[in-house]
Amino acid sequence: MEIDRRAFLATLGTVAAIEAMPSEALADALEHHTMEKLDQTAEGLPVIRRGAGSIFGAGGPSGGTRALSTLAPMPEKPTLVDFFKLRFAPATHVLQSATDALRKGEPEERVLACLLHDVVLNLIKVDHGWWGAQMMEPYVSEKVSWGIRHHQALRFYPDSSVGYEYPELYNQIFGKDYVPLPYIKATYEYARKHKWYMEARSITVHDLYAFDPTMKVSMDPFVDIIGRHFKQPKEGLGFDNSPVAHMWRSLIYPDNPL
Ligand SMILES: [Fe+2]
Ligand SMILES: [Fe+2]
Repeated sequence: MEIDRRAFLATLGTVAAIEAMPSEALADALEHHTMEKLDQTAEGLPVIRRGAGSIFGAGGPSGGTRALSTLAPMPEKPTLVDFFKLRFAPATHVLQSATDALRKGEPEERVLACLLHDVVLNLIKVDHGWWGAQMMEPYVSEKVSWGIRHHQALRFYPDSSVGYEYPELYNQIFGKDYVPLPYIKATYEYARKHKWYMEARSITVHDLYAFDPTMKVSMDPFVDIIGRHFKQPKEGLGFDNSPVAHMWRSLIYPDNPL
């Protein structure tokens, strides 16, 4: 199969970013890109629904699928940190977002919102703001879940007062003349006037749309913040009979057939 080298490199970002990438990362990216191309059917459609979560084999937002790896079993009473280590890892995107929020002095709950804002993409991608907020709702303050729910719509609308520009990446993913669906526009207009607007907006401000090879991330700075603002159920996430326990269980047991 022929790979358009230029098109492949364009998916990686700037020349500086590519040069800074370790060679294994570059090899991984090439493999991923090649698989994406292979996974296109004759009609040019990916073989997997684009809204599926990455734990089920969905690839990046540009489509395609990714190789599945064997998942480690989870502890009997899994904590949020266990999910980060055993199901969401490497979680680079959310760790980079939360690290950015922390460095810029955001309050702890906003840092937590950044850390949690996209982890539901492991389960499902379509409408991830709503799914993600629902999944966190029993365990975080209303402000945090409100922010997660509405960041999805706000991403499409710049706000120069806080330095948020329309992400260039979205021109690549959605196309240059993309117009958000009416429900997204309506949600933005509602959120724009809400007293918690900045809870959602700050997620988009710290949302990093490009691979940043210079930013080293770790879970460590967030463990205490989770401890203070995430109500870990004593039975373990997935087994606490909350209205969203099944979402966490689906991440624990994604291979169960029914
Ligand atoms: Fe998001
Ligand atoms: Fe994000």
